[in-house]
Amino acid sequence: MEPIEDLDVLSEERVRQREADDADEDLDRVKHGYDATAGDKQVYIETYGCQMNVNDSGIVASVLKESGYGLTRDEAEADVVLLNTCAIRENAEQKIRTRLGMLRAEKERRDGELMLGVLGCMAERLREKLLEQEDLVDVVVGPDAYRDLPQLLYEADATGQAAVNVELSKQETYADIDPVRYDSNGVSAYVSIMRGCDNMCTFCVVPFTRGREESRLVTTILSEVSQLVEEGYREVTLLGQNVNSYHYTDENGSSVSFAELVDRVSRVSPELRVRYSTSHPKDCTDELLQVHRERPNVCNYIHLPVQHGNTEVLDRMRRTYTREEYLALTERAKELCPGLSLSTDLIAGFCGETEAQHRDTLSLMEAVRYDHAYMFKYSERPQTYAARKYEDDVPEDVKQRRLEEIIELQNQHSKESNEEEIGRVHTVLVEGPSKKSDEQLFGRTDTNKGVVFDREDYEQGDYVRVRVEDCTSSTLLGTAIGRTTLTEAARTDPITTEAVAA
Ligand code: SAH
Ligand code: SF4
Ligand code: F3S
Repeated sequence: MEPIEDLDVLSEERVRQREADDADEDLDRVKHGYDATAGDKQVYIETYGCQMNVNDSGIVASVLKESGYGLTRDEAEADVVLLNTCAIRENAEQKIRTRLGMLRAEKERRDGELMLGVLGCMAERLREKLLEQEDLVDVVVGPDAYRDLPQLLYEADATGQAAVNVELSKQETYADIDPVRYDSNGVSAYVSIMRGCDNMCTFCVVPFTRGREESRLVTTILSEVSQLVEEGYREVTLLGQNVNSYHYTDENGSSVSFAELVDRVSRVSPELRVRYSTSHPKDCTDELLQVHRERPNVCNYIHLPVQHGNTEVLDRMRRTYTREEYLALTERAKELCPGLSLSTDLIAGFCGETEAQHRDTLSLMEAVRYDHAYMFKYSERPQTYAARKYEDDVPEDVKQRRLEEIIELQNQHSKESNEEEIGRVHTVLVEGPSKKSDEQLFGRTDTNKGVVFDREDYEQGDYVRVRVEDCTSSTLLGTAIGRTTLTEAARTDPITTEAVAA
């Protein structure tokens, strides 16, 4: 197996030559004929990375289905295997490279009768390296070029050469495409509302892999949500890398802010829970907090990544807020929305981080007391400002130890926060059977905590009042009291009632 890293870069001359070759008669047929050739070909899509990639895989599936491809969950029966990749940290990329090596071996075993594609966030950066070895992959397609996928697959098949489109577009939001929700539980769905990111945090590769920020047309978001409600979905999570910077201005010049969008989505149905991810602290406005406060079906939970607890580090990360501003924001949010649950992302060992600065992260965690956190060791990413201008100078063992301290503190906070829930009653949306037993159900509270309770006659998609009896550090264990509706729960849930009365 050949690591992609070792491959030579494809020279510009060869790229041009390949483009010239592509203009031959074979491709004339491509333009008209790719639909017909899909025949009964089966596609297997494997997704890495964040929820945006999961949603994008649904878009890819939808585009391919339209062109006559079948979707399979069984890799062994696939004619085409597509990896939708993530580049956020080095170990994410490494995992995918290893997987690609395995698939390449499988392609050889099948005498080349298996097409391989790399989609998503690694596509742009690895395009040249991937193409150097023509039999490594057949298609390389960036996040904004999925509409071209059927044609690219056809091209690759017809010419025996890799086909590529990694152009990033300021316009493409796939607004009109309904993603295939093939991994959905039929209860909660993700709805993409924007693409790309303009923030340029100095550690982050996303602006390079996904390009500029673009918000999706409001009406298409609302009609997708309405359709989901009709299909029986009970919860939507509005998705984007920086959802609360959402801003759509229509042809008449009227603009819709994120707060307004959340409000409008929440009015599609009073029985639909509304969440969103991920929000940036700089765009978490009072207007948005008011929507949380006033709309009973907008969940009392915000994922509000802080990344670090020290102002100087935050400045070097280009997060555009100070420690004090962030803490003031969380206090304001909790004041407006009593019982609000907060989660975060944290990075340990960023360039130049001192021991004292690391302790500032720990003390910020003590001050906020997150219910949940995603915690990472800093991983230098090519192209980013940090990679170009700062030194990745915190030794690996120090990074590891700092990360472990952060994880340990968070585990303690999560456990304490769960213990405080014992005796409380929550409205739980049932997502399905619990992982351990079919006799038990798993669902989530409004505050996004996982709850397990005995099935009795409750079903997936039900709202159930559950009394918390016990907990682990990650899950609440409860007893069902009875079925309810969100409208009913808004009147009786102590947390929501408190929020409305405050
Ligand atoms: N748009 C989201 C984050 C998306 S990436 C936001 O701004 O909140 C998810 C998380 O990965 C980030 O919040 C950050 O904590 C982490 N991350 C991003 N780049 C990283 C890097 N180079 N090394 C380590 N963690 C990183
Ligand atoms: Fe990356 Fe920052 Fe954009 Fe999040 S907000 S995707 S961390 S650049
Ligand atoms: Fe990864 Fe791309 Fe998401 S880099 S985290 S899949 S936006």
